[in-house]
Parts: sequence; structure tokens; C-alpha cells
Amino acid sequence: MTDPNTTLSGASIAPMSTDDLDWVCAQEAALQAHPWTRGNFMDALGAGNEGWIMRVAGEPVAYAVVLRVLDEAHLLGIGVAVSEQRRGYGRRLLQHLCERAAKESATSFFLEVRVSNDAAQALYRGMGFDEIGRRRGYYPAGVGREDAIVMRRTL
Ligand SMILES: CC(C)(COP(=O)(O)OP(=O)(O)OC[C@H]1O[C@@H](n2cnc3c(N)ncnc32)[C@H](O)[C@@H]1OP(=O)(O)O)[C@@H](O)C(=O)NCCC(=O)NCCS
Repeated sequence: MTDPNTTLSGASIAPMSTDDLDWVCAQEAALQAHPWTRGNFMDALGAGNEGWIMRVAGEPVAYAVVLRVLDEAHLLGIGVAVSEQRRGYGRRLLQHLCERAAKESATSFFLEVRVSNDAAQALYRGMGFDEIGRRRGYYPAGVGREDAIVMRRTL
């Protein structure tokens, strides 16, 4: 079994626990126009999805939630604290999740991203994710709904 606590040159990535949820929910509220609630995170973790926290010098900087189904991994959410963005943490966290899924026999990593989210799309495209489709009106938006781009990276 892979050690779930992994150190990446000063940054550590470990499973998310309920003790992390105050910090996670505060980031989520700051980062997302339509944030997951504490209940959403509790439900996701309770359903067996993987939650991850990245820490640098012991302080949390990023989080992610991943759904695993057979040979597929799905990114349900990822966020990097506003003050810690553009330091490579998002890329490192997602790369770690891809490597971990591949070690555990996943062959594809899927995610959805808002068509308006240029930063996340740039991150994903730079990491080898390709657009494979769109879901019309997938996300709530300020006015009406917003499409999702569905992306896949072969592991
Ligand atoms: C998307 C997000 C996770 C990226 O995290 P990050 O740690 O800032 O990203 P990194 O520093 O690892 O950047 C990796 C690459 O992504 C791209 N990127 C990241 N932020 C970007 C931005 N604001 N504008 C354009 N490109 C960006 C760049 O290609 C970057 O590489 P570079 O710095 O060498 O140019 C972060 O902006 C975030 O938390 N956003 C709010 C939540 C969110 O949108 N989550 C995704 C939902 S699908």
C-alpha cells in the first residue's frame, strides 16, 4: 500500500481529515462563487472519496478531492489559498494525485472546469489534460448557468 503521506521537497501531501475542514471551507468560500459547504465535504469524505491537503512548513496551502471508480480518477475539486497561488502548488498537488492514481491502476484522470476559468484550464492543459467534451449548463452562474469543459489525461 502506498504511504498516503508524501513529502515533495518541503511540501507534504496528506489525507484530509475533519480537523482540516475549517481551513478548507474558508478557502473554498474565498475561491469559489458557488462554494462547497462543510456538509458537501463531509458527504464527499463519508462516501469514500479521497480528500488531500498540501502543507508547506506545516501550514496548509492547498486541497483537493478525488473520486475513484474502477480504473478512473475524477477531480471533484482543487484549490490553492489565494496568497499561495502561482507558486507551483496546484501543479504539484495535481501531479501527485495523477501519479498516485496511476500507481493504483487508474488509466484515466477526468475533470470538469468552467469555461470562464482560464487559470485552471491553463493549469490542466499544461499538465496534459485534453478537452473531450462539454456539459451544457453544468454549473450555476451569477446569471443562469455555465458550461463545463470535460478534460481527460491518460495516465
Ligand atoms: C487553478 C488553481 C488551483 C491553480 O493553482 P496554482 O497553485 O496557483 O497554480 P500553479 O502555480 O501550480 O500554476 C501552474 C500553471 O497553471 C497556469 N496558471 C495558474 N494560475 C494561472 C492564472 N491566474 N492565469 C493564467 N495561468 C495560470 C500557468 O500555466 C501555471 O504555470 P506557470 O506559473 O509556469 O505559468 C488556483 O488558481 C485556484 O485555486 N483557483 C481557484 C479555485 C479553482 O478555480 N479551482 C479549479 C476548479 S476546476
